[in-house]
Amino acid sequence: MGALQIDVAIIGGGAAGLMCARVAGLRGRRVLLIEHAERVGKKILMSGGGRCNFTNTGTTAANFISANPHFCKSALARFTPQDFIALVDRHGIAWHEKELGQLFCNDSSSQIVRMLLDECAAAGVRVETRCSVAQVQQRDQGFVLTTTLGEVHAQALVVASGGLSIPSMGATGFGYVLAHQFGHAVRATRAGLVPLTLSGTHQQHYQDLSGVALPVEARCNGQRFRAGMLVTHRGISGPAILQISSYWQPGDDLRLNLLPDCDVFEALREQQRAHSDAELRTRLAELLPRRLALRLCEIGLPNRPLRQYREAELRAVAAQMESWPLVASGTEGYRTAEVTLGGVDTDALSSTTLQSRHVPRLYFIGEVVDVTGHLGGYNFQWAWASGHAAGSAV
Ligand code: FDA
Repeated sequence: MGALQIDVAIIGGGAAGLMCARVAGLRGRRVLLIEHAERVGKKILMSGGGRCNFTNTGTTAANFISANPHFCKSALARFTPQDFIALVDRHGIAWHEKELGQLFCNDSSSQIVRMLLDECAAAGVRVETRCSVAQVQQRDQGFVLTTTLGEVHAQALVVASGGLSIPSMGATGFGYVLAHQFGHAVRATRAGLVPLTLSGTHQQHYQDLSGVALPVEARCNGQRFRAGMLVTHRGISGPAILQISSYWQPGDDLRLNLLPDCDVFEALREQQRAHSDAELRTRLAELLPRRLALRLCEIGLPNRPLRQYREAELRAVAAQMESWPLVASGTEGYRTAEVTLGGVDTDALSSTTLQSRHVPRLYFIGEVVDVTGHLGGYNFQWAWASGHAAGSAV
């Protein structure tokens, strides 16, 4: 059997790969999309609690972490959340805004995968699942891929194999291996948007509070996120913690404002005026989840009848609650992380086309690149935008 001759081979049938295949196919390119799992778009399917938070209408470069914070701008400007919404609308997929510009499908994330597959079919893209690539070689101005399908000769190669998070969903480090092979630097990778773990006395302080949830403002390394927090058996989770986890590394100072929605000193003063004989812990239990309020008074806050606090002491209690230290020992790792921080260094990629500066007709798109979004639909928007940029150029 002779080698398969195509224009564009795309490794990875996730969000970025599907979008790139569609756009390149619509431009008349012969495209082969190679996915080693049994189906494409597995992360899309599991995303957003099964409803896929497919974009965020407030997307800006400030929502992304990268060694070069400007790199993502060009692609994001040329394929916007409105462009993706227009596509979703054309396919009659009903959606709603949950909060802060986060858009979700009303019914199921499978609608997004169906949409992308239909678009790929209309664009003549050949999609091969359960197909692995053993090696890639550069030859005759193009690439030769040794795959389970046989030899594939492609004029251009797009690496869209994603990051390392959730290996059980098909994640591999193959994109980084290819990057190294073709002389690209890869920035150190680590789990992002991931629950934090506690250990030792810090775990003992909180583990029996598992299930307690409250709004907090989490702060670390100059970043702050106000959202929900959840205490788990092993540590802490919830949107505020997932967001700050992308900025935290072991040893970093992590602080929580436990009452982010009010002036804590004024709230305590109000309690003191109205209930001067009550103990601090009893009145804190009116402001915070009860089990947490009692625990805070066991492990850090002085507990006395409120009338005994002078103003300076009440201010000190308020300051403690606004800057509660949380000593995390690590993260849950790639097993549960939503994204991988780091990846293919953007220095050697064109920000307009995502093409390699070292190797002509080699592209890297999506999460394999050192561009990582905050929680809230930004990561898919980067996948669509970078896929669109490469698909328009390849
Ligand atoms: P993606 O990981 O989607 O695709 C890569 C593909 O390459 C996979 O299909 C993989 O199997 C394949 N592959 C890997 N190695 C290969 C190889 N050697 N050969 C062939 N194929 C290979 N983001 C967001 O914006 N909104 C949300 O709601 C969520 N929710 C969410 C939930 C969960 C549980 C996770 C884990 C992640 C999210 N995300 C998210 C993040 C989002 O899923 C992620 O950023 C994008 O899927 C990245 O798209 P890519 O196409 O780059 O990688």
